[in-house]
Amino acid sequence: MEHQVATIETVAETLILPLFEGVNKPPNRALIGLSRSAQSQARGAIASEDFDGKSSKTISLWDSECKVILLGMGKSEDLKENSARDAGAKIVASLGKTHGKNLTVRFTSGWKVNQMVAFAEGMMLRDYKFDKYMSKEEDNDDDDAPYNVTFQASARHQERLTAGCDRAAAITTGVHIARDLGNEPANKLYPMEYATRAQAFAKGKGNLSVTVLDWDDLQENNMGGLVNVGKGSEHKPCMVIWELNAKAKDGPCPIIIGKGITFDTGGISLKPGAAMDEMKFDMHGSATVFGLLVALHGVGHKGHMMGISCMAENTPSSTAYRPGDVIDTYSGKTVEVLNTDAEGRLVLADGLWKAGEFNPEYIIDLATLTGACVVALGHEASGLWSNDDDLLERVRKVASDSGELAWPMPLLPAFEKQVTGSKIADVKNLGDRYGGSNSAAAFLKQFVPEQGEDDDKKQYPWAHIDIAGTGWGTSTNATVAHGATGVHVRTLVRLINNE
Ligand code: BES
Ligand code: ZN
Ligand code: ZN
Repeated sequence: MEHQVATIETVAETLILPLFEGVNKPPNRALIGLSRSAQSQARGAIASEDFDGKSSKTISLWDSECKVILLGMGKSEDLKENSARDAGAKIVASLGKTHGKNLTVRFTSGWKVNQMVAFAEGMMLRDYKFDKYMSKEEDNDDDDAPYNVTFQASARHQERLTAGCDRAAAITTGVHIARDLGNEPANKLYPMEYATRAQAFAKGKGNLSVTVLDWDDLQENNMGGLVNVGKGSEHKPCMVIWELNAKAKDGPCPIIIGKGITFDTGGISLKPGAAMDEMKFDMHGSATVFGLLVALHGVGHKGHMMGISCMAENTPSSTAYRPGDVIDTYSGKTVEVLNTDAEGRLVLADGLWKAGEFNPEYIIDLATLTGACVVALGHEASGLWSNDDDLLERVRKVASDSGELAWPMPLLPAFEKQVTGSKIADVKNLGDRYGGSNSAAAFLKQFVPEQGEDDDKKQYPWAHIDIAGTGWGTSTNATVAHGATGVHVRTLVRLINNE
């Protein structure tokens, strides 16, 4: 989507006019630029009982020069940013070919700039498709052209609306890249391909560096989590370390870690066949990390931050790790592998420990970690665990403000006891039968690095976000049609920006 911001003057092929409840005549300048017949239709519709301005109510009017969509927004004072974003997303979803690609969105009386930006952001987010592998008809150019949207508001709002829309566009680019990566099939996107794409993105960007620990590096460093999970596949594992604004280093920095299993067959503990194709999304944590870096770079973020993507493909083969194996991890702790399908926690164990070398302010990991999290929260919220109440509340708040719910879940000593109960190793990668997303979080906690000396040691603030249900397949997420969602790119931009 291309966009610009302008004052209320002309109209393009389609005018989208979002109006508040209780309006029964066109607000000031709302119909400027329309033909007489379109003006009179709009005036009539707004005055009629058919249009009450209630949320989601729409009326479409036809005129030979410009189509008009009247869109009800509910009461002005009740309009939350999340609802404005959803409304923008839904209107894009409803557009057909006949509306054309040139749109005007006109914000008239009652609209605040933050609501306008949220509406614009919703439109941008929803304008996405993953069709790179579909053959195209050559003479079908028009259909592929991007939308060109002019957001119109009064002169006094221009500056803030322009800044807000530009920022939303940059963040949306990051979300869409996260979706692209999530949607890529596993034969196209494997661990080193992710690394190559990360390096390609960083190339020529002076304030962004990407370091790749490849197969040899992982073995030399004793990163047994990544090595063991990935060793069964021809596509070898790697760790991708991102650093933004190293020159601005000024004490501890946020570090965001992503689970990047480019395909999860379950390994020797093979998954059942049904819906196994969905396991191409098992790298969505790392997709979010990539998208986050794109978004932060795009908005011109000035602070120092880092990302760590833990990439591997989990497949069975004669070289694959097995149930019963005891493996080393980068932390030095040994793990008894009881199920090779609980692989995400193993690659993250190495990523978490690595983060301890970079003086973290806080560490956040994102992972499509457990089916149990989907059982608990459906596709409506990510699970959120933390060893630090302040961090938990901050993440919860920015996630909620972004319309990407992250729901607090318990990090209980009882679950830690389950995963530390191995008879032959320090930790085991399986908990008891129930509460599987909690025992997974408790496992990760065993690998959160500590700060301070000897008796005064304390874990770094850490939060774990299980996106197994929110990374894809959410029918109630208005900002996405299907497939990968790009979840939590926007959450983390807010968090890192201390919003
Ligand atoms: N990638 C899966 C989790 C998953 C399942 C994500 C369904 C999205 C939808 C993960 O690696 C996994 O297989 N976890 C196992 C853990 C179990 C063996 C303890 C699970 O959830 O069944
Ligand atoms: Zn698995
Ligand atoms: Zn997995």
